Amino acid sequence: MIESKVKQTLRKIKLPTNTKILVALSGGKDSAVTAYLLQRFGFKIEGLYIDLRIGKYSEDCLKAVKELCKRLKIKLHVYDIKKEQGKTMQDIWKKIKKKRLNNCAVCGVFKKWILNKTARKFKADKIATGHNLDDEAQTFLMNVFKGSPELSANSGAITKNIKDKKFIPRIKPLFYVFEEDVKKYAIQKKLPFIKGKCRYSQESYRGEVRNFINSLSGKDKKNIMKNFQSFSGKIQKDKKTKMLYCEVCGEPSRGKICKRCVLFRH
Ligand code: AMP
Ligand code: FES
Ligand code: ZN
Repeated sequence: MIESKVKQTLRKIKLPTNTKILVALSGGKDSAVTAYLLQRFGFKIEGLYIDLRIGKYSEDCLKAVKELCKRLKIKLHVYDIKKEQGKTMQDIWKKIKKKRLNNCAVCGVFKKWILNKTARKFKADKIATGHNLDDEAQTFLMNVFKGSPELSANSGAITKNIKDKKFIPRIKPLFYVFEEDVKKYAIQKKLPFIKGKCRYSQESYRGEVRNFINSLSGKDKKNIMKNFQSFSGKIQKDKKTKMLYCEVCGEPSRGKICKRCVLFRH
């Protein structure tokens, strides 16, 4: 069932099989299944692991990613944040602690920046991430709590409304698949993945929303997803976002200086 769902999703976003896809591999089950299925459906894929240097957690993730790439016989690129940017994620967090920004929100900004830059470097046509339906429902609920459900308008199996030569579109092949089903499939296919989650992501607001959704009955959980799906199909899509280039790093940005460079400067 997961296979046909993903196939349908890929057909909907009209990806030709000669598309070169850089799969963002975190060491978790979702990105492992994403890589496995993309390869199975005939796409040319390579893996990218971003080593944020968050202690032992990063080492364990890298180990799982290496095993996966060996099993799938795909090329793995490792981006070491310390080597490339001179600071570990922990160094970066220390500097911006005063701003009371959540660790994982900061990590997310850096991951997106690195994914785009690296995908361009390796001439990938698309970036694939392992986001599943539960992740997307969390984002939706967070936007509802923020009072801005329309922020979910641009969410979908492929990034919408951004067209720029320096921006590599991101796809989410598991967009319509429940987390539980991804997990079962990863186990069934004996894919190597780490079981735990990064502890900082647990402490985040997203972590709280995730725990809240998980505390609900299966029926309530499904209803949130149902609302999300019907809502995201109906609301008016955002106007096309005009991209600027960051004055510091040259990456695509919504402002004069991109979020990564604002954070990095502290
Ligand atoms: P998360 O935000 O941790 O739930 O991760 C969502 C998706 O982002 C994963 O399924 C991966 O595709 C990607 N991702 C997360 N962490 C990393 C990482 N360290 N390196 C590469 N990709 C990552
Ligand atoms: Fe974001 Fe660990 S801090 S995944
Ligand atoms: Zn920048």
